[in-house]
Amino acid sequence: MKSSEPVLEIENLNVGYETYRGFSHVLKDLNLTLEKGEKIGVIGESGCGKTTTMKSIHQILASNAVMKSGSIYFKGRHLFELDPFYKRYLKKGPVASKLKATFEEKGNLLPDNATMSKIGKRWVIKANGSEQYNIDQTSNGLNIHTGTNVLTMNKKELLNLRRKHVSMIPQDPTASLNPLFKIKTQMKDILKYSGGGGGKMYLFSIKQEYAKSFKTGYPHEKLSEVFEKKDYPLPTNARIETKEKRAIIKVKNKNKYVIESGDSGLDVYGDIEGYKKRAIELFNEVSLSDPERVLDSYPFQLSGGMRQRVCIAMSLATPKDLLIADEPTTNLDVTIQAQVLRLIGDILAERDFSAIFVSQALGALKKFVDRIYVMYGGTVVEVANADDIFKKPEHPYTIGLIESTPKLTGGGFSVGIAGQTPDYVDPPSGCRFHPRCEEASTMCKQEEPMLVKIGKDHYVACWRD
Ligand SMILES: Nc1ncnc2c1ncn2[C@@H]1O[C@H](COP(=O)(O)OP(=O)(O)OP(=O)(O)O)[C@@H](O)[C@H]1O
Ligand code: SF4
Ligand SMILES: [Mg+2]
Repeated sequence: MKSSEPVLEIENLNVGYETYRGFSHVLKDLNLTLEKGEKIGVIGESGCGKTTTMKSIHQILASNAVMKSGSIYFKGRHLFELDPFYKRYLKKGPVASKLKATFEEKGNLLPDNATMSKIGKRWVIKANGSEQYNIDQTSNGLNIHTGTNVLTMNKKELLNLRRKHVSMIPQDPTASLNPLFKIKTQMKDILKYSGGGGGKMYLFSIKQEYAKSFKTGYPHEKLSEVFEKKDYPLPTNARIETKEKRAIIKVKNKNKYVIESGDSGLDVYGDIEGYKKRAIELFNEVSLSDPERVLDSYPFQLSGGMRQRVCIAMSLATPKDLLIADEPTTNLDVTIQAQVLRLIGDILAERDFSAIFVSQALGALKKFVDRIYVMYGGTVVEVANADDIFKKPEHPYTIGLIESTPKLTGGGFSVGIAGQTPDYVDPPSGCRFHPRCEEASTMCKQEEPMLVKIGKDHYVACWRD
């Protein structure tokens, strides 16, 4: 087991769509890992399954989508599998000694006070007041992992994942904003949703150490200082109360702010009625000029670049562990594309969250991300750090993709890669790229290549020597 838990680990994910021609098997044994604070890029030509992957993480696929198999671990990783025999030990209460011994054999000690309970479809082992391991029942037996598997989350957990942990900047801002409502109505809804109900919205986070100053009475001087710094000064008649792990700041007996423990400190929530101030703060963060006019506009009254900035501002409404930007500049003209990319690049550089950046703007990607995943035909064909993908591409598809990128320094039109993306209803056998690959051998047509390590952080799925 690695020392730190990844934010995301996708393992052998198989996803497809039911179509009138039959099952379209798009994602085939897809694997992807994102460490905490890491920024990765995902590239690949149109139709290779990038959006299907991103929407699988958020569980917002179209209704004809089928999650065939695999796992998407959030803040955790796969540990080991147990044979179906062990299903008999899935019982509420203290963990059975046989199961405990097996965990120990696999190098995962369970404390004496470990107990087992069921949440939705999965079993959870808790010890010392926190979740230690999760167990999913599969057709092959038991799958033991840390963190939660997005595919076995219940409805409440999924809502919480989208509200607090993973946000997505969409591929098409025009389709994402409702044309019938002004931006202020949509922004208010987003802020309300991100606050988790109760009429409060997320405002800002402060360090965990401020919890020490939560004493009933006047707010501690240090707490008042930090509120003032964040531009939410506390009136002199403010009082603080603590209740069930929350601190409530009251003004004239009304709950003005609520402070709760968050992932990276204490999260401060305020009245949704003050949404305008918060919306303007977010618009300023994404350099949207004239925020008051933007709030009072319908989406059609804004330019494409402005609409995209509104969507980016919405995705930043709460602190997230993971930001997914799915080709956020596809529908913008080139000058605005550069601005929006720069803006997202600045946001990524400033913040500590992990990010997945899907883009065809290969040059720009190189500046923002640590590693790049190259996808072809629903699978990952190469992974390496950003420099190596451009300087030492190994997979014939990656080489073709990089050669196809138009260069400003001249050299005529790029040749592209001959052929088309696979038909997912009847995909090619073996390596899905073989019908388009000049180096394909008999082996390539028969056997599917797995990702193999060829250098530091460099993996390639190809039979070629
Ligand atoms: N609801 C659906 N029903 C059937 N097929 C679908 C559906 N949604 C996507 N697909 C198919 O899945 C494949 C992958 O689509 P996806 O949108 O994931 O690709 P992409 O890599 O994001 O492409 P692009 O770069 O154009 O955005 C495509 O062949 C697409 O036609
Ligand atoms: S496995 Fe074979 S067909 Fe696939 S990319 Fe490599 S050489 Fe080409
Ligand atoms: Mg897409």
